[in-house]
Amino acid sequence: MNDIVILVSGRGSNLRAICEAGLAKNIICVISNTADAGGLTIAKEYQIATMVVDHKLYTTRENFDLKLSTIIDSFNPKLIVLAGFMRILTDNFVSRYLGKLINIHPSLLPSFTGRNAQSDAFRAGVKLSGATVHFVTAVLDDGPIIAQGVVPVEINDTEETLAQRILALEHIIYPFIIKKVIDNQVTLGNNNTVIVNKAEQDFLALGKYSQYIYY
Ligand code: GRF
Repeated sequence: MNDIVILVSGRGSNLRAICEAGLAKNIICVISNTADAGGLTIAKEYQIATMVVDHKLYTTRENFDLKLSTIIDSFNPKLIVLAGFMRILTDNFVSRYLGKLINIHPSLLPSFTGRNAQSDAFRAGVKLSGATVHFVTAVLDDGPIIAQGVVPVEINDTEETLAQRILALEHIIYPFIIKKVIDNQVTLGNNNTVIVNKAEQDFLALGKYSQYIYY
């Protein structure tokens, strides 16, 4: 039943959404690279085990990732979920967990990769933005797309209001997709294709604007 390891670095609002969606019981451990991550406090609220692997104690990315993977492997998780984990992972780490490692990014990838996705989208004047859940590959904010959610950019939006709208969507889409992955309804096939159990293939309307589709 305990299937998931979650990696966080900060606030942890996606972690909270995942727990609130009934998945706390599936989480083996929440690991953070910073001791003061809000995500650790949320994990404790839900009586989930926590660990800190402070990246500053490691001289290279390789060494940090090696430590991280030793810990992760000790739990033998089915799925590793990046939920605001702000470290670039090495190729070795990513290929070790190919198909078992997912991320959420606050833009409609492949547009607006990187840390400032919401403000970059806002400044570019796009009319639609959203969030993307994807399998992680060695390229930052890249990898086979599992699901995308769409929100409009409204006339009175600021960078902040747009970011809030995207985040609210993340909180719906991420737990939904995590459930699908641990239930084997979504897998990564050969040639980086995302395979969705046909019976589960669907399109959901979420509130006034948002919708997501996965395939
Ligand atoms: C989210 O916007 C997510 O898309 C990005 O990092 C942020 C994490 O926020 N990868 P939180 O820590 O879950 O509140």
